[in-house]
Amino acid sequence: MEFSTKRGTPEKRATPCIAVGVYAGRKLSASAETLDRASQGSLRDVLRRGDMEGKLGATLLLYRVAGVAAERVLLVGLGGEADMHEREYREAARAAVKAAQETGAGSATLCFTEIRAGRRDTAWKARQVALVAAECAYHFDSMKSKKTEPRPLAHIELLTAARDLSAAARGLREGGAIGAGMSLAKDLGNLPGNVCTPAFLAEQARKIARECKLGVEVLERKDMEKLGMGSLLSVAQGSRQPPKLIVLHYAGGAKKAKPVVLVGKGITFDSGGISLKPGAEMDEMKFDMCGAASVLGALRACAEMKLKLNVVGVIPTTENMPGGAASKPGDIVTSLSGQTIEVLNTDAEGRLILCDALTYAERFEPAAVVDIATLTGACVIALGHVASGLYSNKDALARELLAAGDEAYDRAWHMPLWDDYQEQLKSNFADMANIGGRPAGSVTAACFLSRFAKKFDWAHLDIAGTAWKSGKDKGATGRPVALLADFLMKRAGKA
Ligand code: BES
Ligand code: MN
Ligand code: ZN
Repeated sequence: MEFSTKRGTPEKRATPCIAVGVYAGRKLSASAETLDRASQGSLRDVLRRGDMEGKLGATLLLYRVAGVAAERVLLVGLGGEADMHEREYREAARAAVKAAQETGAGSATLCFTEIRAGRRDTAWKARQVALVAAECAYHFDSMKSKKTEPRPLAHIELLTAARDLSAAARGLREGGAIGAGMSLAKDLGNLPGNVCTPAFLAEQARKIARECKLGVEVLERKDMEKLGMGSLLSVAQGSRQPPKLIVLHYAGGAKKAKPVVLVGKGITFDSGGISLKPGAEMDEMKFDMCGAASVLGALRACAEMKLKLNVVGVIPTTENMPGGAASKPGDIVTSLSGQTIEVLNTDAEGRLILCDALTYAERFEPAAVVDIATLTGACVIALGHVASGLYSNKDALARELLAAGDEAYDRAWHMPLWDDYQEQLKSNFADMANIGGRPAGSVTAACFLSRFAKKFDWAHLDIAGTAWKSGKDKGATGRPVALLADFLMKRAGKA
């Protein structure tokens, strides 16, 4: 999808489709009002017949509106004017794009910067329009023998007042970059486990590095053995697929500026290992690398926006499989940090690969480390599919990430990391156990990670509930690429 801005008055815009808002109670938005006047009241005439009330998300397509240069006029319901907040704005934009996609129009002009979205400014609105449009245009058919027919709609234009033009253009550019990062994360997440293996992820990382001019390095099993990543390797030992540790460098900042390090969980399939998962919905454990995918997506967005900061991506990736060589409950492993771990449940493998990646991150002398992981079913119970769980050993960093999630409409919720929870990880035989029992399962997983993040400012995003959808809309969501991108933009002093 291409994006552009245009200034001028709506009735004169010669476009295949022009979309204008209608509030509840058939109240016209400013641009709708202008079209109505230009057409001698034909919009009001249609509304009076009762075809549209202005309910949020409703649409009505009109052809051959006299006095209007556009081939089609798309009326888009906005709901109550006083209720127009972020969610409603996105819903309306989505309805507009979806309805335009159903037509033969190759391009649609949206008069949407004039519509309120809480207190958000023009750049925010433009960014969301681009994100929503990218979402509507997304489809995953690389594994189908028959590809979906491409829809004609390939271009979205925002009609904007002259003074808002540059903000709108910037918002569209950012939204386009973030949207592309999200689509990349979705594609990788949606690929099946027999295609998207650790080696495949490493290949993709190399490809992205080439395209985006990133530095890349892939550590192999023998490199990890040399380093002493006993925890990560213990997860990999049950699989036929060799593990990889992918490291990517985006250098947009000053040479000596400390990098933000993003660490993404890359379990390309989580069977549970010897602590085998039940069969129902086990296919969804192909999504257990969505943290890794979000790191790649965020780096791609970062590079496209040319952000002025340094970012390192670290992706530990392996399968978690049962087998004769697999690690067993009760096994004790030595992590890269030297701390020993009793593996009481082989299904708590995410923390076992992340802990060694976190220790590895020390060498980059990070300004901050953020790990992103589909870590616990317990987080889904706590927060559902709306918010990602956020944990941090530094309140200022937590606040930054919460604000980024808010701004990006990709929200997280701050969870506790109090020492009181650490007791649950006590082991009789090793420095710690890898599970903390049923209570507060998402918190104790974060507590486990915190023991490997003592040397830097660190935050952890548990995206188990937000990284993909189940049911008939099953598929990766691309979250939390938007949150991460916003966080990095602010760190780079851009937003
Ligand atoms: N990848 C899963 C977490 C998960 C489960 C995400 C379901 C989304 C939906 C993780 O590796 C895991 O299996 N966690 C266990 C931890 C438990 C053994 C302490 C879990 O949540 O059940
Ligand atoms: Mn698991
Ligand atoms: Zn897992």
